[in-house]
Amino acid sequence: MTDTATDPATDPAAGARTSAPPLPGARGPLSEAVLAHLRGPSGALAGACAPHLDAADPYGDDLQLALYACYELHYRGFEGVSDDLEWDPALIALRRRLEERFLAAVRGDVAGGDDVAGEVDALLVEDVDAVGVSAHLRRRGELWQLREHVALRSTYHLKEADPQAWVIPRLDGPAKAALVTVEHDEYGAGRPERMHARLFADMMLELGLSDRYGAHVDVAPAAVLAEVNLMSLFGLHRALRGALVGQFAAVELTSSPGSARMVRAAERLGCGPATVGFYAEHVEADAVHEQVVRRGVIAPLLAAEPHLAADVVLGIQAAGLLDARLTEHLLGAWSQGRSALRGPLPED
Ligand SMILES: [Fe+2]
Ligand SMILES: [Fe+2]
Repeated sequence: MTDTATDPATDPAAGARTSAPPLPGARGPLSEAVLAHLRGPSGALAGACAPHLDAADPYGDDLQLALYACYELHYRGFEGVSDDLEWDPALIALRRRLEERFLAAVRGDVAGGDDVAGEVDALLVEDVDAVGVSAHLRRRGELWQLREHVALRSTYHLKEADPQAWVIPRLDGPAKAALVTVEHDEYGAGRPERMHARLFADMMLELGLSDRYGAHVDVAPAAVLAEVNLMSLFGLHRALRGALVGQFAAVELTSSPGSARMVRAAERLGCGPATVGFYAEHVEADAVHEQVVRRGVIAPLLAAEPHLAADVVLGIQAAGLLDARLTEHLLGAWSQGRSALRGPLPED
């Protein structure tokens, strides 16, 4: 089945929206060195980064953007950058150093343990007095705040489900079969116009935001990039497959109530059908995904590989940690009437 509305062959705009984005702007010496290497590979990458690696804030703009640029080569790449750089040895070596700093910081900031059932139960307890972004937007958020939230989340949602797809060949048997059924839904169950990334893009257009892939990276604070980088980190390392499943579970188990709050926020703010529809889709789909992930993915994974329990817990806790950091950033800026973005929203 072909959807002519989103077929690049019949809709040039759809093709343009999925092309490789331009390189973002640097935010410090590490990201500058990575971006310079992408513009024209040289032998200078390791030397340019060495003096700054240990001093860089593992959650900061410079390290997170450098890591984001390395990972993006595995997704859409960048305009004018050779696809072959995906496996450039100098970039991979640097990426490992950046990942080690980031992962060590995350491990140090979560409680740890191996009580998967306890972590899952905690995710399922809906806090009626929730103080997260969706709770704020539902109660008293303003339209400009909802637009900022959507613009920032686009760094993930325009490639929704892609980072989790890396884990598929690392699983086997029932866990693999169940995870793929969830991914199948995220990719529209065979209908391109129902792909969640497409639904998100439709919402962006309705809200007057650019739906161009990568358009909002330059305005995204480090806390946003860190969330996307965490998924890529867990997805791209087979050794961290348990953590990827934990991160996936954290999203799927908390999405339905959060999306219900966003439906009410969008309705209260007078948003159109694409905006209400994106979140309404997730109220329904993720109520099902919650069950599939718990019973179909986590349970058989741990039955087959019980030693992965601590990694599943890491994934759940790390997702919670980075979500809390981003929530603090957004609500902190908004409570002072300030934009949470690094600059003005792009025009196109
Ligand atoms: Fe989704
Ligand atoms: Fe889902």
